[in-house]
Amino acid sequence: MSKLIVQSEKCIACGKCYLNFPQVFDCEDDGIAFVQEDATEQAQLLARSAIFDCPTRAIEEVDDTSATSH
Ligand code: F3S
Repeated sequence: MSKLIVQSEKCIACGKCYLNFPQVFDCEDDGIAFVQEDATEQAQLLARSAIFDCPTRAIEEVDDTSATSH
């Protein structure tokens, strides 16, 4: 299983991801994108093209099965 993440330090707030896929992405007040907590796996699959649309490649698909380390 995989999920989408936004590397906020790479995001330049261009807005493409949340304009194209508002069911998956949202933004902070400063326009920096993040993936919504409740975005379904199905919605994230449909939004995968956002990875390639992002001008700075701030969006990545990561393996969700590995242990999360923070
Ligand atoms: Fe940021 Fe890329 Fe979305 S620059 S607003 S993550 S399309």
